[in-house]
Amino acid sequence: MTYLVTEACIRCKHQDCVQVCPVDCFHEGRNMLVIDPEECIDCGLCLPECGPKAIIEDDDDASGRWLALNTEYSQVWPVITDKGDVPADADDYEGIPDKFDKFFDPAPAR
Ligand code: SF4
Ligand code: F3S
Repeated sequence: MTYLVTEACIRCKHQDCVQVCPVDCFHEGRNMLVIDPEECIDCGLCLPECGPKAIIEDDDDASGRWLALNTEYSQVWPVITDKGDVPADADDYEGIPDKFDKFFDPAPAR
């Protein structure tokens, strides 16, 4: 099992999850993070840290799509180990539906 980042992270990107992950398995895109399912140890520490509730367990009903996304982009985006700047307008994007279709950016953070 693994935990997964969903589209609720897009343009919110608070990165509090990164601060608690004991195995540094978050990877950073330009406007969201993903988890490497092969590295996640299912500790659950990140789940309560995310204000926008973007993180789910992979047994969640909606997990299939997000497992594919996290698997694909954790292979191409760089690891993030420290919290960086949070987007100034992060709160404006919390709770917006269909953020993947509207705002997903496949570019790596750097
Ligand atoms: Fe990291 Fe634990 Fe969250 Fe997995 S469940 S991403 S190991 S903090
Ligand atoms: Fe994204 Fe939540 Fe982490 S918004 S960066 S999954 S704390």
